[in-house]
Amino acid sequence: MIDQNALPKHIGIIMDGNGRWAKKRGLPRKFGHRTGANTFRTIARYANQIGLQYMTMYVFSTENWVRPQDEIDGIIKILRNYLDEMDDYIEENIRVRFLGDLTVFDEDIQQKMKRAVNTSASSTGLTLNLAINYGGRAEIAMAARKLAQKAVSGEISPDDIDEKMIEENLYTAADPPVDLIIRPSGEYRLSNFLVWQSAYAEFVFMDNILWPDFKPADLDAALEEYSRRNRRFGGI
Ligand code: IPE
Ligand code: IPE
Ligand code: MG
Repeated sequence: MIDQNALPKHIGIIMDGNGRWAKKRGLPRKFGHRTGANTFRTIARYANQIGLQYMTMYVFSTENWVRPQDEIDGIIKILRNYLDEMDDYIEENIRVRFLGDLTVFDEDIQQKMKRAVNTSASSTGLTLNLAINYGGRAEIAMAARKLAQKAVSGEISPDDIDEKMIEENLYTAADPPVDLIIRPSGEYRLSNFLVWQSAYAEFVFMDNILWPDFKPADLDAALEEYSRRNRRFGGI
């Protein structure tokens, strides 16, 4: 068991490898996404049970729109189904939020997201952020736009702009910095996920596992690896 004090406050997971998981089985990619969604449910519950406070999951990136329409439709269908069962999460005291430009989604999806956020707002367990139509660079550009508007309106002076102010204008404004990023599937990159927030994160890349096969024991292993890291933040 991992010492509660050694747990990261905020972890990010890049849920990668759904397509390859399906391909290995001779199935269409959407089956990988469906199984990956089940893994997501299991891991979110487990993270809540072991007392993690913040977890941000990469569901769909601003770059993923270049995929075949059929695959995108499949992912959106899974998202809709997931949103319909959100009440279960709320019962488990999980607080749900969405990071990304949500205005591109159909009105019913936006309403379901709002409802999930509102009804779970007072939950005190895991804060579960779903990054959907999310891009780290787009997020920083959004913060720059908001601050520029405030400067133009005279609310702030350009000289006031510091790191804290940028942070306060990101989707993750109220969240602690990301301590740990986990990526299965053997890719060693960030793919535009939490670019600002992970400036001092530890990275655990897992070679031998695709997201649909990811188990609570794999999260344990990543947390244990994290607990052995020596974080220096520029010090000695
Ligand atoms: C991650 O799995 C899910 C999304 C990006 C939506 P992939 O679909 O990227 O799976 P691989 O990387 O092609 O195996
Ligand atoms: C990152 O995975 C996005 C999500 C997991 C949602 P990708 O599969 O899109 O990343 P790249 O294209 O391999 O970098
Ligand atoms: Mg991928």
